[in-house]
Amino acid sequence: MLARNYGARSDESSMLGDRREFRVGEIMQIFIDSADASQIESWLGQGVVDGATTNPSIMFKDGVTDLQAGALRLSKLLGDRPLSVEVTSNDQEIMLEQGRLFATWARNIVVKIPIINEFGESCLGVIHRLSQEGIAVNATAILSFNQAILAAKAGATYVSIFAGRLADEGNDPVATIKNVRQWLDDWSLSARIIVGSIRTVMDIQNAALAGAHIVTIPPQFLPKMVDHRYTRETVRQFMQDAEKTIEEMSKAKVRVATPRG
Ligand code: E4P
Repeated sequence: MLARNYGARSDESSMLGDRREFRVGEIMQIFIDSADASQIESWLGQGVVDGATTNPSIMFKDGVTDLQAGALRLSKLLGDRPLSVEVTSNDQEIMLEQGRLFATWARNIVVKIPIINEFGESCLGVIHRLSQEGIAVNATAILSFNQAILAAKAGATYVSIFAGRLADEGNDPVATIKNVRQWLDDWSLSARIIVGSIRTVMDIQNAALAGAHIVTIPPQFLPKMVDHRYTRETVRQFMQDAEKTIEEMSKAKVRVATPRG
């Protein structure tokens, strides 16, 4: 499918600058792995979301049928926070064309390029060219240390390590994340690790502690992260005691207000 099928260049195309400013500082960030505007809005409002990632499967699941309109809606919601939008072709020329087009839609769009296409052909050239043109690239579907270091060398702003899919094949995502982080730090490369393909709440904790710069979390895990049965019980106990205190206070007021006979 040609890039032009995704619509026109936005008026903001002239504002296309160097997107590598999305490279983050030292604080771990949380992205939301979703194209669901209401979820993104809700978690943005709670101050925990620093960006969002999507892929064609997420767009499809969340009912986005017009990629440009969907991406624009989410990018507006996110303000200056990055939104990853993935190319939809195996053809590298079309990837380049789509990447350049997506980047014109909004300043905060990061173009997601798979490290290889479905035929195993390297997409490092696409990652490199877009990065050289000042477009922020998220090198995605990374399942090994070697893929990650090549993507970083090619100039990717982000390298997306798929923890769940790594574990699906009996590999240890924690070891890969730790090794990639160590290597990036050792050689002062500016690429940032996004850990995606989260399957359990424990994957989030493991990724955070292994050195992920960013963990991208499907929205269904965020309520599980914030909730705790014993916290609820604790708060319930406080509420019951607060009610008793209020009751005692109102009794005391009545005693003060009622003159003794
Ligand atoms: C994020 O950038 C990835 O596209 C996503 O987390 C992949 O998750 P999956 O392995 O569940 O498809």
